[in-house]
Amino acid sequence: MAIAAAGPDLSSPERVSKNGGDAMDANTEAQMTGVKNVHPLAVRMTHWINVFAMFIMVTSGWRIYNASPLFDFKFPRDLTIGGWLGGALQWHFAAMWILVINGLIYVAYGIVTRHFKANFLPLTPRSVWHEFTNALRGRIKHELGVYNAVQRAAYIGVIGVIVLLVLSGIAIWKPVQFQGLAALMGGFDGARWVHFIAMAMVVLFVAVHVAMVALVPRTLLPMFTGRASTTGHGG
Ligand code: HEM
Repeated sequence: MAIAAAGPDLSSPERVSKNGGDAMDANTEAQMTGVKNVHPLAVRMTHWINVFAMFIMVTSGWRIYNASPLFDFKFPRDLTIGGWLGGALQWHFAAMWILVINGLIYVAYGIVTRHFKANFLPLTPRSVWHEFTNALRGRIKHELGVYNAVQRAAYIGVIGVIVLLVLSGIAIWKPVQFQGLAALMGGFDGARWVHFIAMAMVVLFVAVHVAMVALVPRTLLPMFTGRASTTGHGG
């Protein structure tokens, strides 16, 4: 699989220029210092705040689900937070604001600075299929700093799913005030289904995403520091 295969950028001008500097200058500086900026501060901060908020949303959400299960199973109590329905709802609503405000900052940053355009595009179904089948044959693309097509598709996909997760959550939270939104999802019960399926897709994304980081661990430190060595395999 190729999702987290690519490491931080050691050569791409676009990954360098997104950090605010001129591509040529940044490349020259990187050659001289052996270190390059690969993940902008705003991306790193919003990424880790999102991880924190998502963890609370999912584990408290499972507790809320257990109070009135949609399907024939419940989530193990030890994997949930909040203790009881009321407590879990408090956690869920508190983290909701962090998730949404942080997400809006990330999306605005991605559009205004062209971070999305520079790092997630171009993307074609053919390139995703090509790299996916390559990865299945054990040929994971390791080009440092440039997200491969499977990563790009996964990142765009999960951002879209999180938008759906938030919209369906709003429809469940205020089904009267947001009747139109709830109706689009087949009413209150339909919105619960959409919310659950979107949650499952995010959890699946995270499981694969973290497994890929474990397979290519040198991608992890730059997601904290923003910097990567241009020599050796220091990532
Ligand atoms: C403990 C959990 C997580 C770890 C260790 C982790 C780690 C990473 C790393 C290392 C990268 C950079 C990959 C590279 O340079 O090739 C990355 C990027 C990314 N991760 Fe995560 N991640 C985690 C959770 C999440 C979650 C919960 C989401 C969303 C639901 C997420 C969404 C993303 C996205 C969208 C990017 C691309 C960011 C950008 O460049 O705009 N991650 N993650």
